[in-house]
Amino acid sequence: MKIFKTISSIRSYLQELRNGKSIGFVPTMGALHQGHISLVHRANLENDIVVCSIFVNPIQFNKKEDLAKYPRTIEKDIIKLDEIECDVLFAPDVDEMYPEPVFDKYDFGHLEKVMEGQHRPGHFNGVAVVVKKLFDVIEPHKAYFGLKDYQQLKIIEKMVSSLSLDMQIVSCPTLREKDGLAMSSRNVRLSKYERSIAPAIFRVLNSLKEKINQITPAEAENWAIKQLNKFVEMKVEYFSIVGADDLLSVKSWDDRPHIVACTAINLGKVRLIDNIILF
Ligand code: PAF
Repeated sequence: MKIFKTISSIRSYLQELRNGKSIGFVPTMGALHQGHISLVHRANLENDIVVCSIFVNPIQFNKKEDLAKYPRTIEKDIIKLDEIECDVLFAPDVDEMYPEPVFDKYDFGHLEKVMEGQHRPGHFNGVAVVVKKLFDVIEPHKAYFGLKDYQQLKIIEKMVSSLSLDMQIVSCPTLREKDGLAMSSRNVRLSKYERSIAPAIFRVLNSLKEKINQITPAEAENWAIKQLNKFVEMKVEYFSIVGADDLLSVKSWDDRPHIVACTAINLGKVRLIDNIILF
């Protein structure tokens, strides 16, 4: 695997290599787990060249402590990427990505005002800025994102369509541990006890399937919050049942053709997100 730290070096390398070949791109912030690996596998199946990036993007963290605590495991990540035949790794430092202060402002309307957007002001603008910059550098044909960050996926799809970028966003299933906990770089920060109760998040999400048409979406949200609040260590930040495309809340189950339930939970000091596409 070739590793680049500067924009100019990866650009000129890809320019030579490209030559009619397709490029699949997997952007990450490192601390790679099986979820990321599955994205690289998929990119490998569908493209001639696979590029992965590792960059802990400071401008998408609205809390300094969260940025400081974000796990950084670059040596282990490089070994994992090498093993699964990633061709190119782009691992720039902050000055390389942001030599000047960032003023770009995106407007994603309602998509950025709810759930993660409401609780993490500026988060999605930071994501959009870095992803657009990475797309400009790599010029991929396809880019791969996990459904675990459902709202992020919708925002990036919106950015690609509104800027008419000539590329495809590929959404990939959330990978889960055997007990249902969604794989996340943050899981390593859970204590043994927190880790043992964390699977309740997916259990509750999954149980919502039985509530469809039995109770209203608002009642289902309240039911889910009540279940999760039974664990004193869990603080539900939001639990929202929304249209899968517009993320608008729904009054009844037939309000939208597809409905998703999304949640963010603070478990001890760790913030976990998860979701389920109900139909
Ligand atoms: O999902 C992530 O890991 C990050 O938000 C991304 C897309 C790599 C942008 O920093």
